[in-house]
Amino acid sequence: MERLKDQVALITGGGRGIGAEIAKQVAQQGATVVLIARTAEQLQATAELIRQYGGTAFWFSADVSDMSAMREAVQKTLGIADRIDILVNNAGFIRSYAPIAQSDPDEWWHTLEGNLKGMYNTIRLVLPTMLEQGSGQIVNILSVAGMRAFNGLSAYSCAKSAGLMLTRVLAKEVRKQGIRVSAVLPGAVDTAIWGEESAIDRSKMIRPESVAQTVLHILTLPPDATVDEVLILPQEGIL
Ligand SMILES: NC(=O)c1ccc[n+]([C@@H]2O[C@H](COP(=O)([O-])OP(=O)(O)OC[C@H]3O[C@@H](n4cnc5c(N)ncnc54)[C@H](OP(=O)(O)O)[C@@H]3O)[C@@H](O)[C@H]2O)c1
Repeated sequence: MERLKDQVALITGGGRGIGAEIAKQVAQQGATVVLIARTAEQLQATAELIRQYGGTAFWFSADVSDMSAMREAVQKTLGIADRIDILVNNAGFIRSYAPIAQSDPDEWWHTLEGNLKGMYNTIRLVLPTMLEQGSGQIVNILSVAGMRAFNGLSAYSCAKSAGLMLTRVLAKEVRKQGIRVSAVLPGAVDTAIWGEESAIDRSKMIRPESVAQTVLHILTLPPDATVDEVLILPQEGIL
């Protein structure tokens, strides 16, 4: 059964990793998926894979922290079916990985701003459409680093922690207007975000497919219930 038939899902960071897995699973349930990230080749490859399996996928290349590029991408998305039912704010990155005492101020602010701005920009641009529809689902992919302190991750953690509060305020503001807002906070997931040489044993990390399955569960709940926040950890806990 296609549980998301006739819905349009905008997924940021949909070119690889967790976002690509979410896109595949959401498309399998009949939604039209629109992928946004910066690297065109990866977006094209994920969209192509979805189409090979009979799904419908579009992609637009944009930096989520660039408001005007995102405005254009959201307008093009609305050009497809004049609606957006699902927004998954998944784009994110770690650039500043250093103890605060040795951190590079420019990299630090770039990491904090880039992650947080991207989430805010996309919500700000999509929300008017969902409010007009009187329906919609927004899932923000945050991190256990937004609620627990990890050495060397201050900028990323601050971005994810602020993203969690943004999610909570948003949920409070729009839940009575038919919009469901959820936060998913994963622990370590085996993706490219860890770079070539991860200090953590990758075999113990969560598979991106498992995070996607959690998101799909949230998106396919009946309308009487909403998932506020989910913490999903590797089986062995925080690695
Ligand atoms: N992997 C983990 O252990 C883990 C744990 C907790 C939370 N998370 C969160 O999960 C989300 C997905 O991460 P991932 O692990 O799947 O990492 P990933 O494999 O590096 O994928 C990140 C995706 O986000 C896109 N992206 C990054 N910056 C962007 C920007 N400024 N504008 C547009 N797109 C951008 C990337 O594409 P381009 O580079 O082509 O733009 C890519 O498609 C992130 O928010 C991350 O913080 C990951």
